[in-house]
Amino acid sequence: MNTPKRADARQGGVPEGGGTARAYTLHAVQAVQTEPRFEFVGGSATGDRRARMAREVIAGLSRRPRSIPPKYFYDERGSRLFDAICDLPEYYLTRAEQALLQAHAGGIVQRSGARCLVEIGSGMARKTGSLLRAISARTLSPVYVPFDIAPEPIRESARGLLAAHPTLRVRGIVGDFAHECVRLSRGLSESDGPTLFAFLGSTIGNLDEAEAPSLLRTIASLMKRRDRFLVGIDLVKDPRIIARAYNDDQGVTAAFNKNVLSVLARELDGHLDENAFDHLALYDEARERVEMHLVSLRQQPLTLCSGDVRIELAEGERVMTEISRKFTEESARHMLSEGGMTMLEWLSTPEQLFALCVAERTA
Ligand code: SAH
Ligand code: TRP
Repeated sequence: MNTPKRADARQGGVPEGGGTARAYTLHAVQAVQTEPRFEFVGGSATGDRRARMAREVIAGLSRRPRSIPPKYFYDERGSRLFDAICDLPEYYLTRAEQALLQAHAGGIVQRSGARCLVEIGSGMARKTGSLLRAISARTLSPVYVPFDIAPEPIRESARGLLAAHPTLRVRGIVGDFAHECVRLSRGLSESDGPTLFAFLGSTIGNLDEAEAPSLLRTIASLMKRRDRFLVGIDLVKDPRIIARAYNDDQGVTAAFNKNVLSVLARELDGHLDENAFDHLALYDEARERVEMHLVSLRQQPLTLCSGDVRIELAEGERVMTEISRKFTEESARHMLSEGGMTMLEWLSTPEQLFALCVAERTA
């Protein structure tokens, strides 16, 4: 791919020139034209992003129980570690979802009539291929709109997809799905035709009982009557299978979890020692969710912003970094209806490991 040239830099910030930009330094909102079939809308200016991050992280760490927002896992190293998690023998989710997509992408796309694929939290777009192949089989001008908080995976995955699909157009958008879906709406065009909104990887499970319906409502508000929503859902099952998926033998999940500490150290001038924390992932059967924590191995201060913020952690104190909710068909239907969506199809693996669900906007 050519070195991107900046087409438009609003908000006055001067980014570090396109493709050679240091990964994950979010630059000023910009549309970078790298090649005619790839458009890219970057994230907020670095200063704005840091200020928001400081607010959110400090609020989470000051509350009890203490927590760190999970979206900060995904800097360049975090995105790569997540990609490695997807290949772990213990992490059944990716393989199960992949198998479902291979079996059902054609049917889902055909029934939806989709010509455009919007993917929320697209990451490395590992599973996008089967959907795009099905869409490309139906139209000469397929469109793919990846939307993620992390810019680098968008660029990287677009490269491969553009090469594989000679008439595909990609409109990559960097943003936080919790409050920047308006950016996504600007990436949509009436002329793209019926659209499939995909939210894969059980990322919906990382949102709590309030956040999930709120995001679903936002997505529903972007959908036309004929558009469809496709969501990947991890299922309630033997707790041992679930616990293993978040406690792998090679320690990749532990490294991913601890990586958020180096993000804080770098972005918020934090002074903290990754080695002074342990990874802890527990499945709470009653709440049907995994809880991921960092456990402080000793009493220690956690300082951020050159010491402006100082939080004292006790020995054994936990900081929650992520939840991963598991669903039944019934609880998924309920969540969707709270989010203004109606379930149309429920496709699960024979072992009831994972499900794909297709929904439409409720009226
Ligand atoms: N869909 C991919 C990746 C799942 S990992 C797959 O199934 O393999 C979750 C993805 O969501 C990551 O790429 C992460 O960067 C993105 N993400 C997490 N929180 C986000 C947020 N608040 N807004 C936008 N993207 C987010
Ligand atoms: N959506 C993924 C999941 O809930 C995210 C994830 C996988 C994750 N492994 C993790 C998040 C480990 C934190 C830590 O399965």
